[in-house]
Parts: sequence; structure tokens; C-alpha cells
Amino acid sequence: MNIGVYPGSFDPFTIGHLDVLKRAAVLFDTVYVAVLCNNQKQPFFSGSERIGFIVNAVNDAGLANISVSSFDGLLVDYAQKIGANCIIRGLRTNSDFEYEFQLSAINRKLNPEIASIYLMSDPEHAYISSSLVKEAGKYRASIKGLVPEINEKIIAERLLKR
Ligand code: PNS
Repeated sequence: MNIGVYPGSFDPFTIGHLDVLKRAAVLFDTVYVAVLCNNQKQPFFSGSERIGFIVNAVNDAGLANISVSSFDGLLVDYAQKIGANCIIRGLRTNSDFEYEFQLSAINRKLNPEIASIYLMSDPEHAYISSSLVKEAGKYRASIKGLVPEINEKIIAERLLKR
């Protein structure tokens, strides 16, 4: 069984995240989407909101081999706990590279048994980030096409409430 873990803050889950997840779902028997929930990062959306958005998007896309969960602590420890042999990350532009290089290197040092693979972003999604979604929405700009359609309305409304 090939089990992958797709970790992130997902604050919120974007159309770019969904694209990476769909492609990972073809490569692995099961993909665990792992939402980082800890006290150090202060996300805009709560853990349960972020998980809910991902579950909505996964169900709407009809992806059967995906499990959505949260984790705290080291990613490699969580990966080992769920039996994942691979960490999946998306890579957009050059600016992602340095951080991702460091992340994969430290994870490899911490647990050499767990590989990291990177799926290149669809060029159409390369500019999309959770931060830009939040910024656009807070200024009442449309977030259509930036997040999965099923979550557009609820995210837009929530961004206006603060
Ligand atoms: O979506 P993000 O914020 O880029 O995701 C970053 C994430 C969650 C993958 C990374 O911060 C992470 O793995 N955090 C858990 C702690 C950890 O294992 N850090 C790396 C080794 S010190």
C-alpha cells in the first residue's frame, strides 16, 4: 500500500491545493490531507473550519481515497503514525523552492524512511495562495476561481466577518 500525506496550513484550502490533491490521489492508494493545528501558527480559519472546507471540496470532487485529518507536532512523526511512506507538497514558483528544499532536507534527516515528492503547480494556479485569497476577500474582491466553488460563498462571508 502506498500511503501519502499531504500536509499544510490550508488557511484556506485553494483551487491550487485541490489540483495537487487530485493528482496525488491518482498516484497513491490513500492520501491523508493533514491540517496543521497548533498554537504557534495563528490561522485566520479555525482547525474545524479548515477541515470542513477540505472535506467539502473532496466530496464535491468525488475523490474516494482521501482522508482529512489534523496534526500537531512533527510531520514525520504523524506520517509514521498513519503509515505514510511519502510526504506530498505542491511547488509553485521559484520563491517556494528554498523553503521546500529546507523542509524536505530536515524531514529526510529526521526520518530517512519517509520520502518527499513535489508536484508542480498547474501554471494557471501558480499565483494563487491562501494569503492572497484572504486579502482579496477581506477587501470584498471576488474569490471566484481561487478556492473550490463549493466553498466560495462561505469563505467570502467569513472573511468579511473577521
Ligand atoms: O502550508 P504550509 O504552512 O506551508 O505548511 C507547512 C507545514 C505544515 C508542512 C510545516 O510547517 C510542518 O510540517 N509543520 C509541522 C512541524 C514540522 O514537522 N516541521 C518540520 C521539521 S522541524
